[in-house]
Amino acid sequence: MVPKKSSKLGVAFPKISTATRVSQDVDIPLPPSPRGLNEVLSLDKDTPDNHVPRDPRLIRLTGVHPFNVEAPLTDLFNDGFLTSSELFYVRNHGPVPQVLDYEIPTWELSIEGLVEHPIVLSFEQILQQFDQITAPVTLVCAGNRRKEQNEVRKSKGFSWGAAGVSTSLFTGPMMADIIRQAKPLRKARYVCMEGADKLPNGHYGTSVKLNWVMDPNRGIMLAHKMNGEPLHPDHGRPLRAVIPGQIGGRSVKWLKKLIVTEFPSDNWYHINDNRVLPTMVTPELASKDPTWWHDERYAIYDLSVNSAAVYPQHNEELRITSPAAKYTARGYAYGGGGRRITRVEVSLDNGKSWRLANIEYPEDKYRNFDGQLYGGRVDIYWRETCFCWCQWSLDISVLDLEASDAILVRAMDEAMNIQPRDMYWSVLGMMNNPWFRITITKNNGVLRFEHPTQLSLISGGWMDRVKKEGGDLTNGYWGRRSSGEAPSEPAIVEEIDMRAKGLCNSIDIEGLRKHGNPESPWFVVNGEVYDGTRFLEGHPGGAQSIISAAATDVSGEFLAIHSETAKAMMSDYHIGTLDEASLAILNKEPHQELRSEPREIFLEPRSWAKAKLSEKSTVSNDTRIFSFALDHEQQTFGLPTGQHIMLKVHDSSANKDSIIRAYTPVSQTYRKGSVDLLVKIYYSTPSIAGGKMTMALDQLAIGSSVEFKGPIGKFEYLGRGNVSINDKKRSVRSFRMICGGSGITPIFQVLRAVIQDSSDPTTCVVLDGNRTEEDILCKDELDTFAATASSKCSIIHTLTNGSSSWSGQRGRISQRLLKEYVSPVESCMVLICGRKAMEQSAHKILLQLGWDESDLVFF
Ligand code: MTE
Repeated sequence: MVPKKSSKLGVAFPKISTATRVSQDVDIPLPPSPRGLNEVLSLDKDTPDNHVPRDPRLIRLTGVHPFNVEAPLTDLFNDGFLTSSELFYVRNHGPVPQVLDYEIPTWELSIEGLVEHPIVLSFEQILQQFDQITAPVTLVCAGNRRKEQNEVRKSKGFSWGAAGVSTSLFTGPMMADIIRQAKPLRKARYVCMEGADKLPNGHYGTSVKLNWVMDPNRGIMLAHKMNGEPLHPDHGRPLRAVIPGQIGGRSVKWLKKLIVTEFPSDNWYHINDNRVLPTMVTPELASKDPTWWHDERYAIYDLSVNSAAVYPQHNEELRITSPAAKYTARGYAYGGGGRRITRVEVSLDNGKSWRLANIEYPEDKYRNFDGQLYGGRVDIYWRETCFCWCQWSLDISVLDLEASDAILVRAMDEAMNIQPRDMYWSVLGMMNNPWFRITITKNNGVLRFEHPTQLSLISGGWMDRVKKEGGDLTNGYWGRRSSGEAPSEPAIVEEIDMRAKGLCNSIDIEGLRKHGNPESPWFVVNGEVYDGTRFLEGHPGGAQSIISAAATDVSGEFLAIHSETAKAMMSDYHIGTLDEASLAILNKEPHQELRSEPREIFLEPRSWAKAKLSEKSTVSNDTRIFSFALDHEQQTFGLPTGQHIMLKVHDSSANKDSIIRAYTPVSQTYRKGSVDLLVKIYYSTPSIAGGKMTMALDQLAIGSSVEFKGPIGKFEYLGRGNVSINDKKRSVRSFRMICGGSGITPIFQVLRAVIQDSSDPTTCVVLDGNRTEEDILCKDELDTFAATASSKCSIIHTLTNGSSSWSGQRGRISQRLLKEYVSPVESCMVLICGRKAMEQSAHKILLQLGWDESDLVFF
């Protein structure tokens, strides 16, 4: 039954914050009262999402931006059947399009492709010309519970806990009504959708089958409200698709186009995302052979049956005070494709026997409701399909819990699809749904419960513990060992094979050394030889990082800093294997400790040089200067102005290999005997993991060793306006320098070189962006430059969160500021260093202002 069109609309144009009231005697679950988010969090102020107010309780899974978040599991569950918009999980591939209130009525949706009447509808028309429906729908990210997969083996996706699921009352027209108006042609099979968010690989888009869209049982709709409020910007304001029962990835937000086609979407995100490739397809195979991604059989549509326990919570403790006491375990379950969850079972004996839990289906209450809700008709009484999560509970005797070592939960749907015991690992880590397991440990009458994983980047949870104890998570028994069984070696994870298939070419040390030059650099990783010549131009770290690897064994740093995807690309550059004798010679080449001659210059481009931390001084609550002693008092560090070094620090916290990052010291380049690094420490917060390197540095004891290697970088300031870029020389009369946060350090080196040389006629304008006054690094030195060399430099600070007494500029490094201070002038070069988002936005604006790409240098 397709909803009839009515001329009486009952739908007002959405005012931005008024929820329709529903009388309290109606027995349907209503959403929690909205908290009214008005504030843009300071975290977001320096990002392209600086217009989106958000709830600070949400846990960020991919750093600050793009915004990918889940609520703490208990908060989500306690929010009730309907999730408040503030706590609803968010999956954004990129920046949130900003849509201002006055732009909403004219927001356009085009319906095109294989249709008789292509049409363009305005938002206003969509509200006025089509029946409006309100329906409860649970959206679930296909990555829900992915962290468990990542514990077994790192997938290509980021780590979701079990809260990538949320439920809302969505209001809007059925998609079928809109498509029908455009009259699909006979060949039409699919509806492709496209959002307004512009991403690195085009607009986000995907498709579903046309016959699903037209089938009222599938409930596919467009939505402009959630829980009676206009859509929040993160959830697609002003208009999105809602595809019930399918993975969230199909519900396109900021919807601009519906394209009716004969074939599934060819959008990059449809092809490269939301798939479960066969488990034997490694990241390496997947990056090499695109046919895996184009096989539509592996695309995910319907959700798989899944469940999780919320209570007991992670780290909850239960003291047994009475043997008669009971504990109520509780959690959620959902199915896919509209199939009802028909049972949830709990086992306390590792799956030998199961107990049946009680299930509540709040969604069913809406089937008995007939009427308008939030300007849409609730019209699901006739529909059999279940599109929402359900909640289960089970009373368990505390003595049974005490006798058990784990609570296991599994659900089954009406088609008897049941959650499996074992994980199906796949390269994107999607649709993870093995039995949910909470372990129980006992100590003096207290039971302690552990969930499989901990949120975001935080380690913890039984999977992490078992792995650290040498358990094999893939042994079919959650890594448990039978009594007396020795801990196994950590499971051997199949490494990416970086070698070219079938290549059998032995290379000796002489052959390798011939390529110790910048023109055709060969380097060695794990005994294999790679030719970096073809990648000199395209390498994101600059040609220098390959050049400095020439004719050396760079296994350690290569493996530490490259992603699985980068490793999978390596076979294209593989040219042979270094013979054993040559490898031994290469790795025996003199290390600095063995050299008898004291060296004048500390840095070596090809080998790591050790230095000890001699002093640590505090600049502010989160900023330190770390001084490292060089080999001897007369030695200089050897870093040309404008270049950087690589710093390697042992990561003692995670007992892992080393961490390697690029830095620019702040000490004078001619300083002898020591070198200083100015470092802002990024501490962990409950929702964001801190900076690995900066926290490791902060924990270094005086006397600990670190290693330096370099110089690296394509830019060098030679003095008196002369610069060298990738070894090509040119001269300039002035610099414009744009930086943010600790991006000041390479800029500072060049600025200081200009100011200190009284015969250097170059002038500089520095635009430095920070959050607060305290965040401005090197402020005293910069003030002194500005005061003593005002004819040579001017320094403009802009703050996004300046105090009321701040008299400088305010706001981010914006078009206004760039236009004012960094408009193109002749014989000038722009040096830029800061966070990626700042660099990207400045880059775009500078090109619009008329700068030539060749005049811009990004550090
Ligand atoms: N639509 C657009 N335009 N851009 C996106 O990044 N992400 C998709 C989908 N629709 C996405 C999108 C994914 S992967 C999911 S899981 C859901 O939106 C998440 O919806 P939510 O952020 O409203 O929870």
